Formats: sequence, C-alpha cells, structure tokens
Amino acid sequence: MSKFFVGLFLMLSLLLVGEVQHVLTIDFSQQGPEIPETLYGIFFEDINHAVDGGLYVELVRNRSFEQETRRYEGWKIERGDSVKSSIEETHSLNGNNTRYLEMKFFETDRATLTNLGYGGIVVIQGQEYTFSIYLSGDFTGTITTMVVDDDEVLASGSILLHQPVGDWKKYTLNLIPTKTSTDSRLSISIFGSGTLRIDMVSLMPKKNWSGMREDLLGMIEDLKPGFMRFPGGCLVQGNTLENAYRWKESIGPIEQRKTKWNFWGYYQTLGIGFYEYLLLCEKLGAEPVPIFNPGISFQIESPEYASEEELKEWIQDVLDFLEFANGATDTYWGGVRASLGHPEPFNVKYIGVGNENWGPRYWENFEKFRKAIKEKYPDVKIIFSGPPSYEGTGFKQAWRWARENNVEIFDEHIYASPEWMLANTDRYNRYNRSGPKVMLGEYAAHTDRRRNNWWAALAEAAFLTGVERNSDVVIMASYAPLFNRVDWSQWIPDLIWFDGSRVFGTPSYYVQKVFSENRGDVVIHSELTNEEYRMFGYRYKHLYHVVTYDEKSRELIIKVVNPWPEDRTVHLDIKGIAVEETGKEIFLTGDPKDENNFDELNIVPKERVITGLNTSFEYTFKAHTVTILRLRVKE
Ligand code: AHR
Repeated sequence: MSKFFVGLFLMLSLLLVGEVQHVLTIDFSQQGPEIPETLYGIFFEDINHAVDGGLYVELVRNRSFEQETRRYEGWKIERGDSVKSSIEETHSLNGNNTRYLEMKFFETDRATLTNLGYGGIVVIQGQEYTFSIYLSGDFTGTITTMVVDDDEVLASGSILLHQPVGDWKKYTLNLIPTKTSTDSRLSISIFGSGTLRIDMVSLMPKKNWSGMREDLLGMIEDLKPGFMRFPGGCLVQGNTLENAYRWKESIGPIEQRKTKWNFWGYYQTLGIGFYEYLLLCEKLGAEPVPIFNPGISFQIESPEYASEEELKEWIQDVLDFLEFANGATDTYWGGVRASLGHPEPFNVKYIGVGNENWGPRYWENFEKFRKAIKEKYPDVKIIFSGPPSYEGTGFKQAWRWARENNVEIFDEHIYASPEWMLANTDRYNRYNRSGPKVMLGEYAAHTDRRRNNWWAALAEAAFLTGVERNSDVVIMASYAPLFNRVDWSQWIPDLIWFDGSRVFGTPSYYVQKVFSENRGDVVIHSELTNEEYRMFGYRYKHLYHVVTYDEKSRELIIKVVNPWPEDRTVHLDIKGIAVEETGKEIFLTGDPKDENNFDELNIVPKERVITGLNTSFEYTFKAHTVTILRLRVKE
C-alpha cells in the first residue's frame, strides 16, 4: 500500500473511533534546520523607566540637577528666609556634569531638600544603603541625611563641616533602615552658613549586581536569552541627533556620564551604560547586539541627517566601540575597558546599524558604516535596519536593496494584531533560504487596547512556532519592549511590569520563557492533517505546532498552540525512534482576557508528568492553551 493510503487508512480509522480531529506525524529521520542558540533574545531599551527608576538601583530622581527643563523634578526645597537656592553651572563638577544646586546661607539658617524618588522610595529593613553627595563652597555647618516614612526616621547620618568644604569632594554615609518602607523619602537637612554647592545626590542599596536591581535582573536571567539587543529602539535615533544615544557618554565614573533627555520623554542618567550592558550580556551568556545610530535621527518625524563630516564621527564611534569591546588591552579603547575592570575582550560579534530606517540616504550611510567596519573587523556581522513597516512597498524595497547588496542580517519589527499573527505564522516559509538572515528585533501582538493579555500571548506563541520552524532564516527574535514601570510608562504592551519593590511577568513573558527553555537544537519534520481553519475569509490553523529535538537531554519537544475555544484531539504518530513511556507536559492556559498583575499570576507555566506514551498515542490539546510535550527518546 502506498504511503498515501496508509495515511488515509490511519486517519479514517481514527476518525471512526470518534474523537480524533488531526494526525500529527513526526518523522525523526527528517531533521533540520538547526536552531541557533541566539534564537530567543531580549530587546533592552530605556523606555517606561526600564533603567532610570527601574533596573538601575539609584533611588534618587534627578540626582545631578542636569535637567535643562523640569530642573527641580523630584525635589522639594524648603528654606529659611536667609537662604537662596538656584541651579548654577559656573563651578561645574566636570564637563559632562555641569549643573548643580547652589544654596546660599546669608546667615546661619536651615534648609531641607526632599527627594521622593519615583513616587516613594523603597527601603528594606536591615539592609545597607550608601548615601553619597558631592559638595563644594565655603559653607560650614551640619548636613543630616534621613530616610523618612511619614514622620518616622528610618535611618539617618550626619556630615559635619567644621571647616569650609572648598573644592568638590565626595561624602558618603552608610544608612541602615530600621523598618521596611515602600513609600519613604530622602530628607537632607542643612544647617549652617556660607555657600554650599550640591551635586550627585545618591542613595543606592549595597545589595545589587553592577548597579542593577536583583529582582528585575532575575526575571531577565530566567528568560535565558540567547542575545540582547540594546540600547534601543527610538532611543538610538534620538528626537534629533543631539539626544541620540552616544555610547562614549555612558561609560566611566557615574559622575562623569552625561544625563540626557531621552526620546521617551524623561532624563536618563546613563548610570547603566554600554560597559554594564556588556557585563550583563556576559552574565546572561547572551550575544551582545548593540545598535548604533546611522547618522539619522528619528526618521518618521523631520529627520536630521549628519553631514558628510559628522558621519565620519558616527562611524568612528562604532569602530572605537569595537576596539573597546574586543581590542587588546594595549589599544586605547581596549585599555579603557581594562581600566574599568575587564581586561578580557567581550568578543562582540554583531553590530546593528540603524533602527527603523529606510530609503536611499540610510542605505548610503549603511554602506559607509559596513565598509569601515568590515575593513577592520571582517568577522563582525552587520545588521541592516528594516523600516517600521513589516509589509508593503517600503518594506519590499528595503528587502530588495538588502538582497541585492548582500546584507547579512535584516532587522524586522512586527507590531500587529493577534489575528494578523495567527494568520501569518507561515510568513518565513516563503523567505529565500540563501538571502539575508532575519533578526526579528521587535515584535508583539497588539490587542485592541494593547492589553498584555493571554489572547495576545497565544498569538505570539503561535507566531513563534513559525519562527522556530524557520530558524535557518530567522536567527534571532526578541519581544518589545522588555520593561514597564507601572504608572511611569510610555508604551504598552511590555514583557515585565514592576514598581519600586514588586515585579511580575506578563503572559507574553511566560510564553517567551517556555519557548526559550524548550527550544531544542534541531527542527524535526512534522505534519498535521486538517490544519487549515478558515474564518471570516482568513486562513488560520486549528493548531499551531513545531517539533524539535534536544540533543543533550535526548528529548523530543512538541510545542502545540491551540488559541481557539475548543479542545482538539490529535493522534501523534512518531516515526524513526522509540520514546519512553513517561514524559513531561508544560502548559500555559487561561481565558483570552486573562492578565497577570502584582497580586495574581493567572498565566504561568505548569508542569506535570505524563505516562502511557508510545510512538503512537492520542492527546487532547486544550482550548486557549500552549502545550509543550517533552518525550525522552529511548537509547
Ligand atoms: O519598542 C518601542 C519602540 O517601538 C522602539 O523604540 C522602536 O524601535 C519601535 O518603533
């Protein structure tokens, strides 16, 4: 009997038994493509206070009074009649940190500075906090720093200035709160006379990793990202070239980093900069994917283009970065890296040129960057930016240019409805296998009100089955954006939500997590019968699936997404191997409207042991559920 008739017979007999609606045939002898370790990554941008007020442990907001507008943001100043205060810049701390608060005490008097951080400072009982401040001037007196909740002082310390301070000096205090508070404030009470200049007022928990909040860091670590794209996004582009991200401003002592107005409408201290991003990648075991401005500001709105001369500087910035990241310690920038404490190179392999850029001027600039980088670093792969659109004329033109000009990796961004995602899971089946690879640098399903709900995450999971099956083309994929500080955000949906003390992963987060943890090394050929599901003229699938094999654990990984309201029963027919009787099921399920929040994690992965497995068995894939089966292959 031919294969066709065997299949038909099997299907008919199963249908006659009653329940079975599909047959999933898995053929272990047909393997490929290999799945790159980079496939699931993260996209890191300081949007929604992801860094300042987020991952960065600094608790003081507007610590260095650098803000051009909203100069006193975060601060309340109370002073006696004989005290005057102003923001000045004649006696700057340094060239990057020019402004400071000047307080003139014409007589012996008192003033109090209060900082609320980002809507209330969080401190933990018994933990150590470092308070630091830079002072200068001829002031003499006492400065008492307190962490206060309502009227209760939780920690305090004093700096006694019997002699005039003179030139800028850094003072530090160790503060240990007697109580935990999620709504405290930093209060600096000053008593004395003379002129006091104040800069870099900082309060940080001693417990941190390279200046990062450990709970938020843990959430990133749990994703086990294969790469990290940073530092943006639109942040890289800037509203104008003036506030586009410059990596050199983000390294070195924090008082020498430049506080900048960022694209997302707040000031950014750069307290976590390129060096910390590289350390983070190293910790995560993720390939760093830094993105550089191609000499064009935010292209959607009156873009500014760097002149020929200026462009050379932008290109030089990338070359210097590569020397900083990869160069020997006897090179200038390699030496800078070593002086920061990392003599070993970071071995950066990817450089992105541009974010959501398009058109001949970008392409011309891209070519110049590529030529310069490849001349010095031929092995570094250069990522070309696609336009903001993911279909249509502009998108096709960009792809034509990329193909004709041998681009290595094309950065696509897809923000689409869940329904679009469900109808387009085969998008990458049609991509040319010998053309540029794809980095899906940003994607998310946008529901009607952009809710981070289970419906959106189900659609993303379905879309990822198509990505994984095509991982010879799509070599990197990252959801966007990564973080959202509740009540301080500019963009939803996001992967991880947090406030000053709490954090939770959205349904999309847990989809990323289980896909990343259950990636496998190679795709195994599989086919599902009765797959197509037509609704309102759209071609969906009843079930979305991908099968892979994990060589280390010798497990077959079957991922099936059923986004619809009905359970589907499938007969699984595995060819070419035998499997053990006991396996594991990991599943995420809920109502499409379900969301997670600080109090309730409605959508989280659950696990259970499954038995009675064989190379031929039936399985019901539940409605609105992502199911991952891990079956151990017999020796
Ligand atoms: O992820 C938020 C923004 O969306 C990114 O900064 C930009 O690249 C995209 O348009």
